[in-house]
Amino acid sequence: MAEFDVIQGDITKSDVDAIVNAANTTLLGGGGVDGAIHRAAGLELFAACVPFNGCPTGEARITPGFLLPARWVIHTPGPVWRGGDHNEAVDLASCYRESLRLAVAKGCHTVDFPSISTGIYGYPLAEAATIATQTIASVLSQSETLTQVRLVAFDPKTATAYREAWAQA
Ligand code: APR
Repeated sequence: MAEFDVIQGDITKSDVDAIVNAANTTLLGGGGVDGAIHRAAGLELFAACVPFNGCPTGEARITPGFLLPARWVIHTPGPVWRGGDHNEAVDLASCYRESLRLAVAKGCHTVDFPSISTGIYGYPLAEAATIATQTIASVLSQSETLTQVRLVAFDPKTATAYREAWAQA
């Protein structure tokens, strides 16, 4: 089975086949990791996103990485946390599953994720980490293509949450 790792760092520096962007449904950029990825990739990334005319929560769209070291960027809008009874868990799991599905379809072997929805979208960290690691573990157990999937945490608390969740996954 492919390896899963948690590292702490800046996902725009990831030299992997694909990085995942915690986008919003307009796919036209924003703050947080979305803003960082668009700044690092350059204006061509914005131009490549316009034709999608947005993306529903839980789905994913793939574009080239342009000026990023990563070859591809997979854009997936995570759920906004609204208390937990608005399908948030299902939508968050779908972000990870659909992103990996697109990565495999493009022949990617290495994929880096940020902690989707746990920033501006307010998803509780421990719950999000559990959903993310369980979904990743399930996909990796059935994939021949993926060799490395990482969670790139931007801070130590996030890194610890995903390491603890992975240990239970
Ligand atoms: N590398 C890795 N992780 C990062 C980086 C970075 N350069 N910058 C921020 N993060 C982390 C945040 O610290 C958080 O842990 O990404 C995680 C997700 O936080 P957000 O970027 O706020 O994403 P999210 O909570 O999914 O909210 C999405 O924010 O940026 C806007 O356009 C985006 O409207 C959308 C919303």
